[in-house]
Amino acid sequence: MSTTQSQAPTDDPSQTSLASLAQTASKRGIRSLFAHDPGRFEAFSASAAGLLLDYSKTAIDAQTLARLFDFARACSLSEKRDAMFSGERINITENRSVLHVALRAEPADGYRADGAPVSAEVMEVLTAMANFATKVRNGEIAGSGGDLITDVVNIGIGGSDLGPVMATLALAPYHDGPRTHFVSNVDGAHMADTLKGLDPKTTLFIVASKTFTTIETMTNAATARRWIVASLGEAAVGDHFAAVSTALDKVDAFGIAKERTFGFWEWVGGRYSIWSAIGLPLMLAIGPENFRAFLAGAREVDQHFKSAPLEENLPVLLGLVGYWHRALMHYPTRAIIPYDQRLSRFPAYLQQLDMESNGKGVGLDGEPVDISGPVVWGEPGTNGQHAFFQLIHQGTDVIPVEFMVGANAHEGADMSDHQDLLLANCLAQSEALMKGRSLEEARQQLLDAGRSADDADRVAPHRVFTGDRPSITILYSTLDPRTLGALIALYEHRVFVEAQLFGINAFDQWGVELGKELASNLVPIVTGEDAATGRDASTQGLVAAIHSMRNA
Ligand code: F6P
Repeated sequence: MSTTQSQAPTDDPSQTSLASLAQTASKRGIRSLFAHDPGRFEAFSASAAGLLLDYSKTAIDAQTLARLFDFARACSLSEKRDAMFSGERINITENRSVLHVALRAEPADGYRADGAPVSAEVMEVLTAMANFATKVRNGEIAGSGGDLITDVVNIGIGGSDLGPVMATLALAPYHDGPRTHFVSNVDGAHMADTLKGLDPKTTLFIVASKTFTTIETMTNAATARRWIVASLGEAAVGDHFAAVSTALDKVDAFGIAKERTFGFWEWVGGRYSIWSAIGLPLMLAIGPENFRAFLAGAREVDQHFKSAPLEENLPVLLGLVGYWHRALMHYPTRAIIPYDQRLSRFPAYLQQLDMESNGKGVGLDGEPVDISGPVVWGEPGTNGQHAFFQLIHQGTDVIPVEFMVGANAHEGADMSDHQDLLLANCLAQSEALMKGRSLEEARQQLLDAGRSADDADRVAPHRVFTGDRPSITILYSTLDPRTLGALIALYEHRVFVEAQLFGINAFDQWGVELGKELASNLVPIVTGEDAATGRDASTQGLVAAIHSMRNA
């Protein structure tokens, strides 16, 4: 077995040492680390590509960090990273290279898949996208009746949806192209609600699917086609559709012209595809120049990940913190809390990126693993504070929080008080999680507020915050295209780092296949063409109830 396919060495001495350090850390907490080390922020923070990562508010101390680096070395992290960048087929179950980094590269970076350079093809598609986007934006490419395209509807799901949705929202201040809409769910409500208010004459659909077989996307695409044909006729279809896929023959069969079809490659995983032609709706919204800045931000992180020493390497540090929390401290979830309303879909985007990549039950050798990626969830702050933060502060589970926030907003000086408040809230939450409030402090506060001693004794325990709850903060100047690109790339590489420490393949997703297979078998049973005989009793009961409700 080559280094790049080897398991994480669970018997490495660093693991034993880390397990005992985790026990010590659970007892010692985080506050005392600050009390004993005034230089803790400098020692446990790092910056690259405009992103500052502060991981000082975790229970990691110098010794723990040193052992985590030892473990990373024992897992051949650098060698595995180099194998990815050099185009080796590290996705061993699908026998594919993993080269999304080539999509944001410069030709001189020289990426190769199976030994063949990929830059020329990548640049060719990028140029074709830019030409198409420019012409749609300036009206040279118009609807069948010559009308300006005012609305673009992307039809895709998973990696063919979440990235463009998230990034289009994130970069709203740069949005000067047609309005963008996204239909992903096979629930007809999604398409119906999106089409309401749209005019077929000025609407362009992009059918985005790596495989061009995904049932949700194909069903929605067929509905969109009928909508165009019903009002503009069959001949108008060509002017109102474009496609993004690796399966060019299937796109052709659907009837979308070659000059409106933008390809990508097997070596781009769906959840890593925002940088490819899957980013077309984003490019239509913000323009090719901003899209290039978005790619450049990601490339900056790639260069850093490739060359920075482990000790200063942002994705490595973020991955080690994640691994520490999940595998050593046994925290089952992590919360992603952007104090940035425009990153409202970033947690959902990371859910696919992280959980579809690292939610695995077997290691690279096919043997069961004890632990893999955590549950990832989140919502923007400050909204989350008024919803689920109660549990994060006082609940019985420890949930590491990942805050992210910009020092500056796009909004003008007349709204500067908003950003000040947002930043203050973000800092306050991580401080409160770390410091907490003792029983004595809670009691004293009540007494100071004029409550009786009896009352203070009774209420004080409810106002105790244990503190010592971990969080990290990622700070950037402004959420611009470059910064967003860097932020996404940071998390992509973090997922990679954690996968190497868990010893799993982050680039397949067999877990979503079974449900897909069963769904297609169940369609004729739902429609009543086939009987539910042979299915489990619950499925039979539910099918019978559906039929009776439909016939009522
Ligand atoms: O949900 C499984 C999955 O295969 C994802 O990995 C992918 O992003 C999504 O479906 C959509 O696939 P496609 O782009 O092929 O339609």
